[in-house]
Amino acid sequence: MTFSTLLYDVRDGIAVITVNRPDKLNALNARVIDELGQAVDTVRRAPEVRAAIIRGAGPKSFVAGADISEFQNLQGVGARQLSAKGSGIFRSIEKSAKPYLAAVNGFALGGGCELAMACHVRLASENARFGQPEVKLGIIPGYGGTIRLTRLVGKGRALELLMGGGMIDAQEAYRIGLVNRIHPADQLMVEADKLLRTFLANAPLAVGSCIEMANLQEGMHLDDALALESTSFAVLFQSQDATEGTRAFVEKRPPRFEGK
Ligand code: COA
Repeated sequence: MTFSTLLYDVRDGIAVITVNRPDKLNALNARVIDELGQAVDTVRRAPEVRAAIIRGAGPKSFVAGADISEFQNLQGVGARQLSAKGSGIFRSIEKSAKPYLAAVNGFALGGGCELAMACHVRLASENARFGQPEVKLGIIPGYGGTIRLTRLVGKGRALELLMGGGMIDAQEAYRIGLVNRIHPADQLMVEADKLLRTFLANAPLAVGSCIEMANLQEGMHLDDALALESTSFAVLFQSQDATEGTRAFVEKRPPRFEGK
């Protein structure tokens, strides 16, 4: 698969999607958003791809936000369409049954922070910086930032970042739960690959079901969510992988999962 603003590479079942506009700190213009949508669709459909990493090109930035130069003549309807389109793509990432990992190698601002938050886990390099600076431009995040940040770090901490528009470093992002782990920049991709492979060693249907439950429970009453979890638990008992996983444990051997 070739793109003009992304690099797309599959390494042993893991797709690496690199936003590739380093001269603009990988800002998300309309073309990047379009291509990101196509890449996410490719990941979903490709049977050989089992997980994905999103990162930014160059040493300085993951993604420094939406491309502000495209905001100049934006009006209400166009802004609504822009937001809805990006939000839809980010939601597809979040709902993907194949795990997505954000490898945040520098600035993750605005849409960059939102993109990272749409992924299932986030690893940061020591030089990573996070923020939602939209209020400085007179707007608010449009790709889910007010919602996902609040859900990830709590209302008080989210509002401090959203209303202040400031940046936090990797340590602070780790402290408040915005990132899972911090690694030296030169180890980030190795660690990203290693972490994803721990997910891929497990039964794919079960991993996908964890993602589905974590997403669905956000909009559910506790009793409904618990009932749905019981149903999903029961459905997985119908899978060959559940038979294989429990048998392998009893036989003291590693399981061979097939995603069935
Ligand atoms: N949209 C468009 N272009 C952007 C951009 C964005 N979000 N972020 C950076 N760029 C461009 C700069 O305009 C500059 O382009 P130029 O060389 O053609 O002038 C290039 O990327 C490098 O950025 P620069 O500002 O020179 O780097 P810096 O190290 O001095 O500052 C930032 C880095 C991230 C602090 C600064 O670029 C910035 O504040 N960017 C905007 C962040 C933002 O508000 N994002 C949310 C948008 S909704």
